[in-house]
Amino acid sequence: PRSIYLSRHGESQYNVEGKIGGDSLLSPRGMQYAKALPALVTESVGEQTLTVWTSTLKRTIQTAQYLPYTKLTWKSLDELDAGVCDGMTYEEIEKEFPEDFANRDDDKFNYRYRGGESYRDVVIRLEPVIMELERQGNILIVGHQAILRCLYAYFHHLPQVDLPYIKIPLHTVIKLTPRAYGCDEERFALPI
Ligand code: F6P
Repeated sequence: PRSIYLSRHGESQYNVEGKIGGDSLLSPRGMQYAKALPALVTESVGEQTLTVWTSTLKRTIQTAQYLPYTKLTWKSLDELDAGVCDGMTYEEIEKEFPEDFANRDDDKFNYRYRGGESYRDVVIRLEPVIMELERQGNILIVGHQAILRCLYAYFHHLPQVDLPYIKIPLHTVIKLTPRAYGCDEERFALPI
């Protein structure tokens, strides 16, 4: 059966600084993940060939750089747009936009950043990606936290309210294999 593989990009400079969004490069730990990823993927894929999809952001392209497969970049895979909050830490957002911060906490799925997106918006923009995933299979997506939450929730039929809180750890490949009912899952983590 065909599987879908999900991985977040390696740790980025912004991850280290606690900043959201942006287009930063990988940290040294993130680079270690990029270098280890081909072996980790071989372990989870075996002999079959894969196509790798990244976003247009540097941290996903960098993470995929050593993978010996055909690569495609999708603008629709870019991280949730945090609008005016892009590049800020959560503490800075709470200080500068306390009402927004509280509203997001109240309804994280529907909250839309000023000049940016909500999780609901992202689910809609991912529709074409999901259609293509359903058609093809054997795709590895090197993506972002919010994006992978949406894709993961889709394949596991998880409710919208829970979607923004799904834990998608760094430095882990999640293998999803759709079955008649639901989806099998395996995880391959690197201890870095
Ligand atoms: O911090 C990494 C990150 O991918 C940000 O770029 C993004 O805004 C955030 O995670 C999404 O997570 P949450 O919706 O929990 O803030």
